[in-house]
Amino acid sequence: MKTRITELLGIEHPIVQGGMHYVGFAELAAAVSNAGGLGIITALTQKTPDDLAKEIARCREMTNKPFGVNVTFLPVIEAPDYQGYVQAVIDGGVKVVETAGNNPQKWMPMFKENDIKVIHKCTSVRHSLKAETIGCDAVSVDGFECGGHPGEDDIPNMILLPRAADELKIPFIASGGMADARSLVASLAMGAEGMNMGTRFIATKEAPVHDNVKQAILNASELDTRLVMRPLRNTERVLTNPTVERLLEKERELGKDLQFKDVMAEVAGVYPKVMMDGETESGAWSCGMVAGLINDVPTCQELIDRIMSEADALIRERLEGLVA
Ligand SMILES: Cc1cc2nc3c(=O)[nH]c(=O)nc-3n(C[C@H](O)[C@H](O)[C@H](O)COP(=O)(O)O)c2cc1C
Repeated sequence: MKTRITELLGIEHPIVQGGMHYVGFAELAAAVSNAGGLGIITALTQKTPDDLAKEIARCREMTNKPFGVNVTFLPVIEAPDYQGYVQAVIDGGVKVVETAGNNPQKWMPMFKENDIKVIHKCTSVRHSLKAETIGCDAVSVDGFECGGHPGEDDIPNMILLPRAADELKIPFIASGGMADARSLVASLAMGAEGMNMGTRFIATKEAPVHDNVKQAILNASELDTRLVMRPLRNTERVLTNPTVERLLEKERELGKDLQFKDVMAEVAGVYPKVMMDGETESGAWSCGMVAGLINDVPTCQELIDRIMSEADALIRERLEGLVA
């Protein structure tokens, strides 16, 4: 399948693995890229820019296909060493970055001078248009369904994707709630040029996370995610568990007075405990509603091959048949 995204990124299939904290290590990125998609290493999971450089080198040993790096610009006062991380991306010869969080404008000259394609992940049409204006090559449009940070507008992809198609000139990738061939074909129908998956890629053989995490996603239905930190305007969609329910109770009790320090215990430092030690109930960790569509743990190759062959059948048989 050839789309503006496969052409832009130099990949075989229009499938991207979104950056994921403590999931997006070299093993997963290489597996997705080897299967013909675009795998992405998550920069901030690496403690220092030097560690990121090593992770990029490790990924290169596992694949000779293109892969990307996610750089998430957090709304925090003490910012990580972004200059160092961006330099590690450049020095590592990586040609695609997925930016997220704050607008990447400040870094665009560095990316462009080094011929790096920039995909900015946005949760609204206005942010997507801004990304287009500052010179991003593509956007990932992340609907309300998504695992992680869906923003504060709450617009599901059934509306958000066609709205993006109506406004954008640069190509966009549908993100949030994507699991299978139906997701891909529907996204293409709504104007996207490919799809981005987060949660689905955690439940794969190569995702280097504890089996408890994969099992928790298999056990979850579409009813099992919650939105936390909404009062702080830092909404995150996470898998529910007793710790998350306690956090929500605290949010209800404190109402407008809630501050970040009140939720620290449930959200700070959770990822290593969940993803590496398998303590899935130790805090709040991102997970999409799409968990309801995930029922197996295939290899990335099996997953992507299945999506592409079923998409082919869906287009050539079901859809073609409807108009024949
Ligand atoms: C466990 C987990 C961690 C994530 N961490 C990040 C991150 O560090 N930076 C980022 O830009 N997006 C992050 N995301 C969002 C994903 O890149 C992607 O946009 C999202 O998962 C898409 O929705 P889906 O889960 O429904 O596929 C994370 C998602 C999950 C599930």
